[in-house]
Amino acid sequence: MDARSQKTPKDTFSARLASVAADTEALLARLLGDTPLAGETARPKRLLDAMRHAVLGGGKRLRPFLVIESATLLGAGGEGTALAGAALELVHCYSLVHDDLPAMDNDDLRRGQPTVHKAFDDATAILAGDALLTLAFDVAARPEVHTDPAVRNAVVLELARAAGLGGMAGGQMLDLAAEGRFDQQRAPLSEKEILTLQAMKTGALLRFGCRAGALLGQADADTFARLDRYGVVIGQAFQIADDLLDVEGDTATLGKAAGKDAAAGKGTLVSILGIDGARKRLDGLVKDADTALAPFGAKAETLRTTAHFIAERKA
Ligand code: IPE
Ligand code: IPE
Ligand code: MG
Ligand code: MG
Ligand code: MG
Repeated sequence: MDARSQKTPKDTFSARLASVAADTEALLARLLGDTPLAGETARPKRLLDAMRHAVLGGGKRLRPFLVIESATLLGAGGEGTALAGAALELVHCYSLVHDDLPAMDNDDLRRGQPTVHKAFDDATAILAGDALLTLAFDVAARPEVHTDPAVRNAVVLELARAAGLGGMAGGQMLDLAAEGRFDQQRAPLSEKEILTLQAMKTGALLRFGCRAGALLGQADADTFARLDRYGVVIGQAFQIADDLLDVEGDTATLGKAAGKDAAAGKGTLVSILGIDGARKRLDGLVKDADTALAPFGAKAETLRTTAHFIAERKA
């Protein structure tokens, strides 16, 4: 075989991520269908269109990928895992719709398209976020997610904790507070405070992806702890990479506005460690991810490559 046509681990990873993304897209499109479900009265067109705008046709789908790959590591998979991944992606998409609102980060571009409040209006964007969040729990609670109701219950409970007051929404509160909008005398955040903020606003959902995969795969305590540790580490890495991309990336590649965090006074590790310091931190986190996965050997190759992808991504 021609050496140039040989597949590298990165090619295999990209193909796998693209395949999960395509499956996730199809599943999300199905979940956002026109026909009302049992218990629903009607699906108002403007709201449904706004939800589709928020969810379909973009995004790396990294969170569903984490659910699926963590479960696959344990020999689980199939429709239930895909549904749990879709539920997580719905929470993520809702968080982006609200994050972009004028009252939050005030962004006009997301995934290369106008943000939901730009394509529609603020009120529709707020409602689209609300309905995406509730749809996520509708999906996570469905019997097809797992045959064991106790496993489903654990997934729903964990998703609620990851998304809410002590997770993503709480982290978004800390993120806005760090800008000094509620207290102009506010001192810049310490490194420890930034780590807490980021573990909540971004880390919680990514970590949930790994924990959900472990729950669905009915991991033993040691395996669960390892996947959880991996989730914590890649969650940290993910937001550092996002913050570096805000400084070094360009709007066209990112599909969202670059260069806004410093001006807004966002609490980021780049603001305290500088670009080189943040990059070194990322390298250390990728090594920590490798360590967490070490006992799984070759079976964890995809998750191992995912940590590298998160650290090295350009969008
Ligand atoms: C962006 O997340 C928001 C953050 C948590 C930093 P992603 O970079 O995963 O966005 P999509 O889903 O690929 O658009
Ligand atoms: C967003 O963080 C985190 C959530 C949406 C929960 P950012 O505000 O940094 O994300 P981007 O850069 O707008 O994607
Ligand atoms: Mg934000
Ligand atoms: Mg933002
Ligand atoms: Mg950002």
